[in-house]
Amino acid sequence: MKVLIVGGGGREHAIAWKVAQSPKVEKLYCAPGNAGIAQVAECVDIGVMDFDGLTRFAKEKAIDLTIIGPDDPLAAGAVDAFEAAGLRVFGPRKNAAVLEGSKAFSKDLMKKYNIPTAAYETFDSPEKALAYLKTANMPIVLKADGLALGKGVLICNTHEEAEEGVKTLMMDRQFGSAGDRIVAEEFMTGREVSVLSFVDGKTIKVMTSAQDHKRAKDGDEGLNTGGMGTFSPSPFYTREVDAFCRTNIFQPTVDAMRAEGREFKGIIFFGLMLTENGPKVLEFNARFGDPETQVVLPRMKNDIVDVFEACIDGTLDKVELEFEDNAAVCVVLASDGYPEHYEKGLPIFGLDSFKDKDGYYVFHAGSKFDESGQIVTNGGRVLGVTAVGEDLKQARANAYAATEWIQFANKYMRHDIGKAIDEA
Ligand code: AMP
Ligand code: GLY
Repeated sequence: MKVLIVGGGGREHAIAWKVAQSPKVEKLYCAPGNAGIAQVAECVDIGVMDFDGLTRFAKEKAIDLTIIGPDDPLAAGAVDAFEAAGLRVFGPRKNAAVLEGSKAFSKDLMKKYNIPTAAYETFDSPEKALAYLKTANMPIVLKADGLALGKGVLICNTHEEAEEGVKTLMMDRQFGSAGDRIVAEEFMTGREVSVLSFVDGKTIKVMTSAQDHKRAKDGDEGLNTGGMGTFSPSPFYTREVDAFCRTNIFQPTVDAMRAEGREFKGIIFFGLMLTENGPKVLEFNARFGDPETQVVLPRMKNDIVDVFEACIDGTLDKVELEFEDNAAVCVVLASDGYPEHYEKGLPIFGLDSFKDKDGYYVFHAGSKFDESGQIVTNGGRVLGVTAVGEDLKQARANAYAATEWIQFANKYMRHDIGKAIDEA
């Protein structure tokens, strides 16, 4: 069959790598892709929001299955556009992608269906938000309602910071219309865990757990980023936690979406906090995580195309997901200065070191070919170096060893990815 993947980051490289292993796939395309994805797929220069261009291409090439990677096209109705064109596509429709696209929607859903999450209030006007925050307990968390590249969350320690936060989100509109409505949420403490799952509308099958490191610098200092590294599984995601989440969070979320007439098919990524009072939902994402996918898929045994098809067909109950009994760590190689100012277009050396090395992967997040055909940096996050190992410590040692194989002039990484493993 012919498969098209929409997106061009590390997540899509990991998906493309996994899809390419399916014996059913005879041709793989990626729009727009990147220089790493080009090793496993034919990249076509169509943007992820160009639904006309994408559906025209899929029809022209008689694509049998399209997988939408990023949140923006899902929230804007990419799946609806493919379905309207009579094309088979994996991902939630617009009315279900709102689970990620609106924090106010997801909070109201959890409240209505008793899914554990932090207490909250929603505001449409800065005046009302400011009045509420004057007497609210600190710290408090302010969240832009809409999609803001994972950066629309402000943790405010004082009333002054909270006031400043309302100004940033609602008055200066730093994230545009995403901040026209905000959620003010109780501050929680605990370990964070991500759990990715496949959903077919009724049935949910959990993959495995992972943990991201969102801050730019060692020791969780510095600015929030798209993610600087991940490990899987999380040693804090125990059997008991898993059992609690299945009963109280995972299935109830799928059932709630169905009850609301917003049947969810695709990936639900549960961002959880393991608090003193049990696991609570921090956020939902309606797609694979980036860079969680780069540690989850290398551990997955199933033919992923079978699982995508089962989600579309509503037959996920017949699928047994299987994962290797090992661990994986991904260290992101970024451009020094990310997430603010950084140089691009610098040549990357050492990529060939990964060829034919079992258990070592280099997923490209921001790379491209220059005019001479040399692979150069093309983003803040450049590469995700992943390695597996028999346990987390071994996987981490392997991943950090592999980061040395790669060179580019402004290479930057965190040196403490997976440090929490030592505390488990
Ligand atoms: P979100 O995009 O909602 O996952 O938020 C981004 C990050 O902000 C999370 O990964 C947490 O580290 C932090 N965060 C979000 N909500 C809360 C909360 N209610 N209490 C404490 N930290 C939070
Ligand atoms: N790594 C967090 C996310 O994909 O949103």
